[in-house]
Amino acid sequence: MDLIIQFLNIVAPPITFFSLCLFLPPYWTFKFFLSTINSIFSENIAGKVVHITGASSGIGEHLAYEYARRGARLALSARRETALREVADRARDYGSPDVIIMRADVSKVDDCRRLVDETLTHFGRLDHLVNNAAISLGTLFEDTTDITNLKPIMETNFWGSVYTTRFALPHLRNSKGKIVVMSSADSWLPAPRRHVYSASKAALVSLYETLRVEIGSDIGITIVTPGYTESELTKGKFLKAEEGKMDVDQDLRDVEVSAVPVGSVSCCAKAIVNSTLRGDRYLTVPAWFKITYVIKVLFPELVEWGFRIMYMTAPGTHAKEAPSKKILDATGLKKLFYPSSIQSPEVKIE
Ligand SMILES: NC(=O)c1ccc[n+]([C@@H]2O[C@H](COP(=O)([O-])OP(=O)(O)OC[C@H]3O[C@@H](n4cnc5c(N)ncnc54)[C@H](OP(=O)(O)O)[C@@H]3O)[C@@H](O)[C@H]2O)c1
Repeated sequence: MDLIIQFLNIVAPPITFFSLCLFLPPYWTFKFFLSTINSIFSENIAGKVVHITGASSGIGEHLAYEYARRGARLALSARRETALREVADRARDYGSPDVIIMRADVSKVDDCRRLVDETLTHFGRLDHLVNNAAISLGTLFEDTTDITNLKPIMETNFWGSVYTTRFALPHLRNSKGKIVVMSSADSWLPAPRRHVYSASKAALVSLYETLRVEIGSDIGITIVTPGYTESELTKGKFLKAEEGKMDVDQDLRDVEVSAVPVGSVSCCAKAIVNSTLRGDRYLTVPAWFKITYVIKVLFPELVEWGFRIMYMTAPGTHAKEAPSKKILDATGLKKLFYPSSIQSPEVKIE
């Protein structure tokens, strides 16, 4: 057996290389042809039912507007009910024939069961489930003295999606529906202070790639990996794991985002809905962010080194001393790269 494995160790790399040279061109041609066909015969969502979690702000809110413009009926959930009500009113103005809202905390399994049940009770069907609710993180792993403070990240971002998907699956099978998974470019980028957040997003990719195999073609799954996009998250809303509470910290946001352009939330939502209706398997938005994946795969050491140099500070110094923020401040690029909506720390309150 050892001999066979040693043989494979030697022959696998050259065989893989020559196979790639042979099969990649026809494979990519076929995929291009397929995506053109899918663009032409995109799903018509008018009158169908979409549930969006985390619809009270940011990308989830704008997904509601995009689906509304296409005439979808909407079930919107989050914890802030007043904000949800405002989003629902605007979604009706944009053209949704029926919108319901429900207060739900996706980290609680009973809330996830209820949000699916209430959608089915009201509309009698479910066509798209958008797993969007999440919280971000802004603390170094070693500064998290009470390690259990990190649990809400996984419970919201990963388990919230798992629970809701499980309860929705039979109904999505009936309607031959779709699931939208909001992962993140952080699923491949080793950004400091986001460790468990990034892990939760990588876990989502892994889970839904496996579900594609288990479920087959009955339910379409679109995995979205956004780069920086205007929302409450890029206003600087992080879980501060030292204290175990959410806080808006724009200095820390400047450190994390640095001199990277932040995309418009309406463009992001539009791209996500179009991609889902086409039945795409993956979407990175804005599209240029895909190069970060290629760089990470080809030069992993350089990426780790770059993050360490740019985003870390000497022990005992504040994160805002990081070179990433100093470059942002010195160049004045914040005015150019950050939309006006994320320049103030105000977030919606309940
Ligand atoms: N903005 C970016 O640059 C970016 C980049 C990559 C990925 N993403 C992903 O995009 C998605 C949307 O985030 P966003 O940027 O739009 O941030 P956001 O404005 O902070 O929106 C997050 C949404 O999730 C909801 N939420 C948080 N915890 C919840 C819980 N326990 N139960 C139910 N709802 C909960 C929030 O509503 P309540 O507080 O009212 O519950 C809010 O509606 C997230 O999955 C995020 O990871 C964003």
